[in-house]
Amino acid sequence: MSDVDPQIRASMEIRARIDTTKPHSARFWNYFVGGKDNYEVDREIGDHIKEIFPGLVDVAVTSRHFLGRAVRHLAGEQGIRQFLDIGTGLPTADNTHEVAQRVAPDARIVYVDNDPIVLAHANALLTSTPEGKTAYLDADLYDPKSVLDAAAETLDLSQPVALMILNTLGHVAEHAKAVELIQALMAGLPSGSYLVISDSTATSEGMIAASEAYNSSGAVPYYVRPVAEIEAFFDGLELVDPGVVQVTKWRPDGTGPQDVAVDAYCGVGRKA
Ligand SMILES: C[S@@+](CC[C@H](N)C(=O)[O-])C[C@H]1O[C@@H](n2cnc3c(N)ncnc32)[C@H](O)[C@@H]1O
Repeated sequence: MSDVDPQIRASMEIRARIDTTKPHSARFWNYFVGGKDNYEVDREIGDHIKEIFPGLVDVAVTSRHFLGRAVRHLAGEQGIRQFLDIGTGLPTADNTHEVAQRVAPDARIVYVDNDPIVLAHANALLTSTPEGKTAYLDADLYDPKSVLDAAAETLDLSQPVALMILNTLGHVAEHAKAVELIQALMAGLPSGSYLVISDSTATSEGMIAASEAYNSSGAVPYYVRPVAEIEAFFDGLELVDPGVVQVTKWRPDGTGPQDVAVDAYCGVGRKA
């Protein structure tokens, strides 16, 4: 392999890390939002879950609309220019940097994910405006110090940052651990920073059945939590109106469905 072009070799190494024998949440979620970057194993469990609980498609789609509204609000009304998006997922329409830089072309965005499929497609996340900047970190939410250290190469961590963890905290089942990780990340960000969270909730029998089916598929399990646990993630922060609500009810602006009841809650909180 010594005469192989280094870029091709890097790409082959990333591809070799992709496990197509088990579903992966990035690819499964991509299938739910209508993407093409998924494998048979993801589509099989995806189709089964669509059959037993079609409401999960609404969760995936309306959560992306929430991302858009939250980022527009923060970049527009709150003047935030830096975003740290952990558990980015596969690129799709209206990624964080596209939404933010439409409002503020100088916005800087750091994406973080630990799935090799996201790394393989990361170039689509690096299409920054000339005034702004985007970066991708192949890193782990469970290692907040490394995430912050590497993010500091692109973001000025003495200035406010919006920390976004959307539809990802279910991978951290233990509540105390999730709180610890969020607090470690927020501790590295200055006053005036924001925490943005959305996640699936154990608010219907259908969602609980979907989660059980997903977790028995061999995928890394995904815990759907009670709403109270999502509320508790914002302890110590100033909650932006309207607080922790269903993702369709957070500052609706006509983009995306508003009247759908979804098993996903969200919130935005400001660090004083
Ligand atoms: C369900 S997807 C959500 C994607 C996107 N945030 C969205 O809301 O559309 C969850 C993402 O979290 C990523 N993820 C899971 N565990 C992670 C970890 N420990 N560190 C970083 N990313 C992780 C997965 O690879 C996947 O891309």
